[in-house]
Amino acid sequence: MKSNHINRNLDSHNHLPEDLQSFLKNLSPEDEAKLLKIVNAGKDLLGKLQTNENEIHSLLNALEGGYTLPQFGGDVIRDGSAVLPTGRNIHAMDPWRIPSDLAMKRGAHIAEKLIEAHQEENGIYPETIAQVLWGMDTIKTKGEPVAIILGLFGAEPIKDGQGKISSYGLIPIEKLGRPRIDVLMTASGIFRDTFGMQMDFLDRLVQLAASADEPHEMNFIRKHVDEIMAEKRITFEQATARIFTQREGDYGTYVDDQIESSSWQEENELGDMFIKRNSYSYGGKRSGTENTLVLELMMKKVDRISQEIDSVEYGLTDHQHYFAQSGAMSQAVEKRSGKKVSVSYIESYTSETNIQNLDSMIRMEARTKILNPKWYDTMLKNGRSGAAEISSRFTYLLGWSATTKSVDKWVFDESAKTFLFDEEMRNKLEKLNPEALKNMTGRMLEAAGRGLWNASEDDLEKLRELYADLEDKLEGIKVTS
Ligand code: BEZ
Ligand code: MG
Repeated sequence: MKSNHINRNLDSHNHLPEDLQSFLKNLSPEDEAKLLKIVNAGKDLLGKLQTNENEIHSLLNALEGGYTLPQFGGDVIRDGSAVLPTGRNIHAMDPWRIPSDLAMKRGAHIAEKLIEAHQEENGIYPETIAQVLWGMDTIKTKGEPVAIILGLFGAEPIKDGQGKISSYGLIPIEKLGRPRIDVLMTASGIFRDTFGMQMDFLDRLVQLAASADEPHEMNFIRKHVDEIMAEKRITFEQATARIFTQREGDYGTYVDDQIESSSWQEENELGDMFIKRNSYSYGGKRSGTENTLVLELMMKKVDRISQEIDSVEYGLTDHQHYFAQSGAMSQAVEKRSGKKVSVSYIESYTSETNIQNLDSMIRMEARTKILNPKWYDTMLKNGRSGAAEISSRFTYLLGWSATTKSVDKWVFDESAKTFLFDEEMRNKLEKLNPEALKNMTGRMLEAAGRGLWNASEDDLEKLRELYADLEDKLEGIKVTS
């Protein structure tokens, strides 16, 4: 009989299933050491999460003019319990060391996988990939989205004697062994505000690549800059704009607001809004310079869209910004290029990274969240706000469908069946949050009305009645039962 921490500990865990007890008893000393490390990290994390009351104490202390202890920010899954307790004055990272070495390794790998995925689907290299740059994701991954861009370009950081990044340089094309892929970088306002230096480095890299003495077939950045300059008779400076987002002081693409308020007539308006909001270029001499011309030209050239999802915390259907960013962009690209573009989401939650396409991601989220009793029953336990969470997913599904048509009929059918046609569930929702139930009903009717959901006339009739009934009750015309 072995004598060690886990097995000794096991004596007090006789309640564990027998197969687990025997699994633990038969572990090799090495595996046992590894397991013990994980168990201890888990215990540490659980303990800190259970006593994480610092947030409110720190807030009150700060409001009284007290000092808030500093601490590096991070992600509880990636960085572990070191980021706890919260309620401290967090500093995100050292901007001179972004991307980190690890982020570079992961980003280079992801870039190759994106290229491979494109080749598998189309048999050719992508010439342009549109990569989303969000601020929080870049902070939490220590720069993975930037590293993906460097990978696609075939570039790497150049560091000074202290290991700080001073610029990006090109990997020789012979060593790269494939063409440099052009990248249209669509940033968020948060990225713009946080990563000014990074945008300068990336802008300089675009110009470096565009002036490299390499043939067009091995350097798509140069190819596109030459094409644009010849076609539109614009300067090298104008033609090399690749980082786009909102103008200073503005945040978001506004497409989520259009969906939320139903203030759009035709689908094209959503993609057009994306362009309108994102036509400001950054990096180097550009500081929000309007350059709709080059953005429009680059949108025509986009072959694939890519966005990283850095954590399991939020998925595509959990907030409105994913469809308002990569969803709306895909619509704008398809309208302009006349071809279907793949949208790739990079799951980067663990040591593995995985590329998923939009349609399968939406299906997976539908099955595991909105249509999963474990998910919605837990939401319902949170009362009014839980019902509002479920209801907002209906709005986001509409957003995805309007921008990308990626929501299958069965997802709409099952959502209506689960929440609106089931009497017990409907009554529960009505008691908890009648406005939420009304939104859910209204969104289904809207999806059908806009031709996004091919519902049966029978179902539509039931929904119309339900909607009118809820409206009457909410306006006080009818008494709630
Ligand atoms: C960002 O971190 O850039 C971001 C966060 C939430 C929504 C959109 C962007
Ligand atoms: Mg995120």
